[in-house]
Amino acid sequence: MCRRPRFKCAERVFDSRQAFASLRAFRSRLPLPGGERDGVRGLAHFGLRAAALAVAILASTAHAELVAYKIVGDAIPASLTGNPGDAARGRIIVANHNTGLCLLCHSGPFPQDKFQGTMAPDLAGAGARWSEGQLRLRIVDASKFNAATIMPPFYRVDHLTRVAPAYRGKPVLSAVEVEDVVAYLMTLK
Ligand code: HEC
Repeated sequence: MCRRPRFKCAERVFDSRQAFASLRAFRSRLPLPGGERDGVRGLAHFGLRAAALAVAILASTAHAELVAYKIVGDAIPASLTGNPGDAARGRIIVANHNTGLCLLCHSGPFPQDKFQGTMAPDLAGAGARWSEGQLRLRIVDASKFNAATIMPPFYRVDHLTRVAPAYRGKPVLSAVEVEDVVAYLMTLK
């Protein structure tokens, strides 16, 4: 659901998945896998690469295991972890320009932060406008509310494009972090 017409305009010119993937690429200034180094040749090289690939596949399968959750209507009523989140930690995630990236698009009650977004509703009052379960689904996968949303899915690993290798198979936020963000948003009444 797109509540305000100006966000519709933003949707047309802005592919959220692509933009977010390049942001993630920007964040992932990690060294290339060792197998790419020059000067290693022959069977040993092949063996090393095969082993590295096997490890990479195992690692990505392990990361791809998201907690199972159930969508009821437009909400995920139950906590992903089975426990309530920590609102103080959630505030840090939302305010941090490298972890949540929320303030890239949103503004919120962070008077000290001069660099806040204007492409999405102000987060102030989000806890009054939405239920806890609706906020949880919105963070997990906002496309369930609006198929063309520019808001990235924070707890989804499939159907993403141009994800940097280091981030493949991993959700942007962990289940614990999603719960912390939800707990913080619920304090914004
Ligand atoms: C790339 C831009 C973008 C990012 C990053 C983003 N959002 Fe959003 N968000 C939107 C847009 C646009 C909407 C308006 C509804 C829609 O189009 O999905 C929205 C809607 C919402 C809403 C409902 C707002 C309301 O009250 O109507 C909440 C809550 C929310 N986002 C929270 C977050 C949080 C928390 C984060 C960070 C963890 C985040 N968003 C990151 C773009 C973004």
